[in-house]
Amino acid sequence: MAFVRACDLSELESDTPKRVELDGTPVSVVRTEGEVFAINDICSHANVSLSEGEVEDCQIECWLHGSAFDLRTGKPSGLPATRPVPVYPVQIEGGSVHVDVTASLTQES
Ligand code: FES
Repeated sequence: MAFVRACDLSELESDTPKRVELDGTPVSVVRTEGEVFAINDICSHANVSLSEGEVEDCQIECWLHGSAFDLRTGKPSGLPATRPVPVYPVQIEGGSVHVDVTASLTQES
């Protein structure tokens, strides 16, 4: 496990994704429904930044073609994306958000 600091908790507005780069990996950090999630920022369908999309029902929607990815599992809710996007473990410590991009929680199916 290699948690690195992503941002302050206070920087996260509810349902507004924040893009950060951690060890060269683009990550979208999302605070929603009282929890903080970290998902790879690149859509699995094409090279599009998910942090520019909207968050609803614990999903982040790709703005280009509308596939929404579950922030807990990374799985797409529907086409055109068919593959999940990696989601990463999050730890909150002393008001800071830490993410481990070496440990994807997503299960390829
Ligand atoms: S680029 Fe994300 S759904 Fe097509």
